[in-house]
Amino acid sequence: MAQSEWMQDPGWKFLRQSDEEKLQEQATRKFDNKTHTWIPDPEEGFLIAAIAVDETDSLSVTLPNGTQKKYTRDQCQEINPAKFEKTEDMSNLTMLNEASVLHNLRQRYRNMMIYTYSGLFCVFVNPYKMLPIYTDSVAKMYVNRRRSEMPPHLFAVADEAFRNMISEHENQSMLITGESGAGKTENTKKVISYFAMIGAGGQAVGGGGQASEIDTKKKSENSLENQIVQANPAIEAFGNGATVRNYNSSRFGKFIRIHFDKRGKLVGGDIEHYLLEKSRVIKQAPGERSYHIFYQMMTQKKLRDRFSLTDNIRDYNFVSQAEITVPCMDDKEEFKATNTAFDVMGFSDFEKDELYKTCAAIMFMGNMKFKQKPRDEQAEIDGMDAPEKAARLLGVNVDLFIHALCAPKIKVGNEWVTKAQNVQQVDWGVGALSKAIYARVFTWLINRCNETLTGHLEDAAHYIGVLDIAGFEIFNRNSFEQLWINFVNEKLQQFFNHHMFVLEQEEYRREGIEWTFIDFGLDLQACIELIEKPLGIISMLDEECIVPKATDMTYVDKLTNQHLGKHPNFVKAKPPKGKEAHAHFAIVHYAGTVRYNAEQWLDKNKDPLNDSAVACLKAGGNPEALVCKIWSDYMTDVDREAAAARGKTETGGKKKGKSASFMTVSTMYRESLNSLMTMLHTTHPHFIRCIIPNEKKTSGLIEAPLVLNQLTCNGVLEGIRICRKGFPNRMCYDEFRYRYAILAADEANDKDTKVASIKMLDKMLKTQLLIADHFRSGATKVFFRAGVLARLEEARDEAIAKFILYFQAAIRARLALDDYASKIQQIDAAGIIQENVRSWVVVRKWPWFRLYAKLKPLLKGMKSNAEIEALEKRCKEIEAAHKIEEETRKRLEDELRAKKEECADTQAALDRERAAIERRNKEIEELNASLRKEQEKLEEADKKQKDLEKQRERERKEAEEKERKLGAELEQEKNRAQAEAEVYKEKLKTAEEAAQKGERTRKAQEKELTDMANQLEAARQKNDRQENERNKLAEQLEKAENEAIVERKQRDEMQKANKKLEAQLRAMKEQMELMQKDRSNSDVDLKRRDEEISILKSKALSDANLIAKLQSTLRALIARIEELEEDLDAQSRARNRIEKHRNELQAQLDSINEQCTEAKGQLTAQVHLNNTRATEMAELHREIERKSLTHEAYVADLCSMQYLTISQLRNLSQQAATIENEASQLLDIRRAQTLGGALTRDNTVTIYDENGSHL
Ligand SMILES: Nc1ncnc2c1ncn2[C@@H]1O[C@H](COP(=O)(O)OP(=O)(O)O)[C@@H](O)[C@H]1O
Ligand SMILES: [Mg+2]
Repeated sequence: MAQSEWMQDPGWKFLRQSDEEKLQEQATRKFDNKTHTWIPDPEEGFLIAAIAVDETDSLSVTLPNGTQKKYTRDQCQEINPAKFEKTEDMSNLTMLNEASVLHNLRQRYRNMMIYTYSGLFCVFVNPYKMLPIYTDSVAKMYVNRRRSEMPPHLFAVADEAFRNMISEHENQSMLITGESGAGKTENTKKVISYFAMIGAGGQAVGGGGQASEIDTKKKSENSLENQIVQANPAIEAFGNGATVRNYNSSRFGKFIRIHFDKRGKLVGGDIEHYLLEKSRVIKQAPGERSYHIFYQMMTQKKLRDRFSLTDNIRDYNFVSQAEITVPCMDDKEEFKATNTAFDVMGFSDFEKDELYKTCAAIMFMGNMKFKQKPRDEQAEIDGMDAPEKAARLLGVNVDLFIHALCAPKIKVGNEWVTKAQNVQQVDWGVGALSKAIYARVFTWLINRCNETLTGHLEDAAHYIGVLDIAGFEIFNRNSFEQLWINFVNEKLQQFFNHHMFVLEQEEYRREGIEWTFIDFGLDLQACIELIEKPLGIISMLDEECIVPKATDMTYVDKLTNQHLGKHPNFVKAKPPKGKEAHAHFAIVHYAGTVRYNAEQWLDKNKDPLNDSAVACLKAGGNPEALVCKIWSDYMTDVDREAAAARGKTETGGKKKGKSASFMTVSTMYRESLNSLMTMLHTTHPHFIRCIIPNEKKTSGLIEAPLVLNQLTCNGVLEGIRICRKGFPNRMCYDEFRYRYAILAADEANDKDTKVASIKMLDKMLKTQLLIADHFRSGATKVFFRAGVLARLEEARDEAIAKFILYFQAAIRARLALDDYASKIQQIDAAGIIQENVRSWVVVRKWPWFRLYAKLKPLLKGMKSNAEIEALEKRCKEIEAAHKIEEETRKRLEDELRAKKEECADTQAALDRERAAIERRNKEIEELNASLRKEQEKLEEADKKQKDLEKQRERERKEAEEKERKLGAELEQEKNRAQAEAEVYKEKLKTAEEAAQKGERTRKAQEKELTDMANQLEAARQKNDRQENERNKLAEQLEKAENEAIVERKQRDEMQKANKKLEAQLRAMKEQMELMQKDRSNSDVDLKRRDEEISILKSKALSDANLIAKLQSTLRALIARIEELEEDLDAQSRARNRIEKHRNELQAQLDSINEQCTEAKGQLTAQVHLNNTRATEMAELHREIERKSLTHEAYVADLCSMQYLTISQLRNLSQQAATIENEASQLLDIRRAQTLGGALTRDNTVTIYDENGSHL
C-alpha cells in the first residue's frame, strides 16, 4: 500500500501530520529559541517566557501574563528550534531537557499522536479514548516495515522484534512498564494480538478491528492464535480489580512468551506471573473493589443458587468493603466474556465450576464469625451458617475445619500440641488462608492456561516475551510491596541502561568513533546491592524472620545500624509532609528517594499459614477438587509425618517440600525475579514506557507534574541523561550536507558526500561555529553532542535570512525603479499635455488652426482608416494564405494518411504474401516430408515384398523339396512296403507252399502274417499319417500361395499407390515448381513492393518533412498572423484611444468655440464701448492737447520764471555767501573782541526758502 493510500486510513491522522500541516505549525510558532526560554511552573511544568534581559548567570524574563521575573540560568531550559516541533523521536531533540520532552509529548498528545520514540524507548501516553490506530488496516501497514520508515507505533516496535527474531535467531522481549492506569495491559493485549496476527500468517485476530474480531471467532474459535489472545480475559477476571486509578487494574505482573517456529509461525505460548496482590481478596480501600470474578459470579442466578449465595453482594464481607460496581463495566457481560474465554481455552465445565466454587467458598469464609470463650483465651465459632456453606464448598468436614482454625495442632518435636487461638488470631488465620487459597487458585489458573497454550512447543525455535509489570511507585505510604516493585524496576532500568550502553558502544565501534566507554548500568548497581546483597535490606529481613522475638522495629534498628551513613543509597527518612505516612528509612532509587514504612514487614515476608487448616483442606474429600490440587506442593506437618513414616526412600521429596513451606515471600520473589532477569538477559529487549496523562481518566488533559514524575520514574529522563553524555544526535553525511551546505558552500561541492561533509565540518571549526568536542565523524554519520544542532540550525537560519534579505532588497529595488519610471512618464506626459494646451490656447483663434482642427480628425481618421483597411486587407490576405496553407496541409495530411494507409495495405499484402509463401513453403516441406515418408514406406514395402517373395520362394522351394522328399520317401516306403509285401507274398507263397507243405507251420506263419499285417497296417497308418502330413503341407503350401497372392495383390496395390504417389509427387513437384516460380515472382514482386515501400517511405518522409516544413511555416505564419493581429489589435486600440482623445479634444474645442462666440459677443459689446470710449478719448485727447498747449505755455512761463528765479537765486546765494563770510568774519572778530560778552547779533540770521524767496 502506498503512503497516499495510508493517508486515507482513519487512523493515519493519529500517527503522522502531513508535511504542510507541520510546516504551517512551525511557521506560526509564536516563540523562538533565541528570544524565549522555558521557565519552571508548578502547574504547567514549564512555561515559555520572553527573555527581557540576558545577564551572564541569570535571565530577566517576561511571563506570559506580562509580569517580569528573574531566574537563574540553571532554572531556565532552552527551547528547541522550530524544526523539532512534534518530533517523532525525542532523542533527536538538540535541547534534551525535561521541558522540551514534556512540550513535545504535550504537543503530540494534543493531536492524539500517542506514541513517540525517545531513543530506545517508545513512549505511550494513554489517550483514554478509542483511536482507530489498532485496526487491521493499520496493523498491516506495519507488517514488515522498518521502524524508521513508519510513524511511531507499538506495532512498529512489535514488528521490529519479530523481524529481529527471524533474522537474528534471537529471543526478543518487550518490556511494557508504567504506573497503574497508564495503559500497560492494553498495550500488552494489542501487541499480543499483533503477534498472533503475524504468527498466524497475516490474518487478523481480534484486538484491532471489531468486525474482524467476530469473523475470526467464527473462523477459528480454538485456534492457537485465538487462545493466546483469549487467555487474557480469563486471567484478567481473576487478576484484575478496580482501583482508584484504573477500573481494570491488573494486580499482578506477567511475562507472556509467544513461541514461534523457524519460519515465524506461531507454535505456542506460556505465561509467568509475579507479585499478585493478595491483600485485595480480603480488604479493599475506599473507592476500590476486589477481583472482578466475585462480582461477575454474583450476576449469575444459577451460580448463586448452586452455591447458596444470596443475591446481595453486600452480604459478603470480604468483597464488599468499598465499591461493588465499576463505571462502564457490565459484570454480566464480563462474565459471559470470561466464560467464553474459558471455553476457548478448553476448560471443562468441571474446572470452571471448581474455580467459581472456590471463589464462593472464600466469600463464605469472609462471613465466618468467631467469639471469645468466656474466661478463656480461646476463640469459638459464632454462627454456623457461613462455615457450613464454606465447608460444603471446600469439601471438608465443617467441625474439623472450625477446630483446625480455632485450635490448630502444631508439632513440637515429636509431640502434637494444640495451640489456643484468640479471636484476632483466628480472624487473621482465616484471612491468610483465604488469600492463600485465592493466590494458589490464580497460580493454578495460569498453569492451566499454559497447558492449553503449549500447542506445538516442540517446534518452537524462538520466542518473544511481553512483560507487563507495574512501574516504579512512590506513594504516601510505601511498604513491602512497593519495595519489591521498585526493586524490580531498578533492575529493569539497569537492564535498560546496560543494553543501551551496549548498543551505543556497538554503534560507536561500527562508526569508528573514539569514545571511552562507561557502563551506565553500573550507576544503579549501588542501590541494587543495598537491596539484594547479603546484609542488604532483603536478606536482613529474611534473617529477622527466623530470629525469635524479632519485630519490625528490631529489623529497622539493625538496618539503620548496618547502613545509615555508610551506604550512599540508604538514608534517614525525612519527616512526613502533607498526607505522607510515617517512614522508618528511605532508599535513594534512580527515580527518586522513597520513604519506606517497615510495619508488618516480618509478617508479610513470613506469610504464615494455619498448617492444620491446610491439612484439613488437603485431607478433604475429592482429590480431583481444585481446593485439594492447589496444595499439592505444600507440605503440612501431617504430610511430613506421613512421608517420614513411609520411609527414607522419599527423603528427597520431603526435603524439598519442607524447604518450600519455609520459604519466605522475599525468597520466592527473588527467585522469580532472578529467573526473569536471566531470561531477559538472553533476549533482545524493546522498551515501551506508558504514561498516565492525568488522574481523572480524561482524554486530552495533561497534568504536567504527574507526567514529569513519570518521565523520571520510568527512566525516560534517565535515558536522556545517558544520551547527553554521548553523542545523541546523529546525521547521515548525505543529510548533513544537504541541510548545512549553506554554511560552507564551497566545501560542500566535493563529489564524495563524506569528504564534503568532513571539509564542511573543518570549515565550521575554522569559523568557530563548532569546536572539536562538539562532534565526531563516523563512517557513515556525523555524531553531535546534545545542543550542537541548535547552533547549526541558528547559523543556517542566519545564512538563509541573509539570502532572503538580498532577495527582498533586489525585488524592492526593482519595484521602486518601475514605480520611478512610470512617475517620470507621467511627469513627461503632463508636460506634453500642458504644452499642447498652451499652444492650443495660443493658436485656437488662428483661422488656419481652426481649419486644421476641423480637418485634422478627418485626415487622421482617414489615415488610420486607410491604415486599418490596409491592415485588414493584409490580415485577410494572410487569412486566405493561412486557409490555403491549411487546405494544403490538410490535403497533404490526407495524402500522407492515404499514402500511409496504402503503405500499410501494401505492407499488409506483403505480409500476407509472405505468410502465404511461408505457408506454401511449409506445405511444400510437409509434402516433401510426407513424400519422403511415403517413399520410405514404399521402399520398405518393396523390401518387405522382396523379402516376402524370397521367403515365399524359399518356402515354396522348401515345400517342393519336402513334397519331393516325402513323395520319394513315400514311394520308397511304398516300394519297400510293396517289396516287403512282395517278399511277404513270396514268403506267403513259400509259406503257403510250406503250409501246403506243412499245416503246423501255417499257424505260426499265419500269426506271423497277422503280425506282419499289423505291421502293414501300422505302416499303412504311417503312410496315412504321412499322407495327412503331406496334405497339411499342401494346405500350407496353398495358404502360402494364397498369401503370396495376397501379397502380390498388396504389392500391386502398393505399386499402384506408389505410382499414384509418384504421380502426386510429380504433380506436387510441378506445383512446387509453380510455387517456386510464384515465389520468385512474388519475391520479385516483394522486392518491387519493398522498393515501392521504401520509395513511398522516403516520399512519406519527404512529405512529412514538407509537412513539417509547411507546418513550421504555417506556425510561423500563424505566429505572424497572431503578431499582426496583435498589432492590429494594438493599432485599433490606439485608434480607439486616439478617437476617444480626438472626441475629447473636439468636445473641448467645441466648448472653447462656444466660449469664443460668447467672448465674441462680449467683444463686440466691448468694441462698441471702445468706439464710444475712443471718441471720448479723442475728445479727451483734444482737450489734453489743448490743455497741454496751455500747460506748455504755462510751463514755458514757469521755465522762464524759473530761470529768472534761478538766476535770482544764484545772485542771492552769492550774496548769502558773501554775507556768511562777512558774518563769520564778524563772529571771529567778536569772539576775539569779547570773550564771554553777550552776543549782539543773535537774531540776524536770515532764512531763505528753496526758491530763494524770503519766508
Ligand atoms: N491504547 C489505548 N487506547 C484507549 N484507551 C486506553 C489505551 N490504553 C489504555 N487505555 C485506557 O486506560 C485504562 C487503563 O489501561 P491499563 O492498560 O489497564 O493500564 P495499566 O495496565 O497500565 O494499569 C484502560 O482501561 C483504558 O480505558
Ligand atoms: Mg495493567
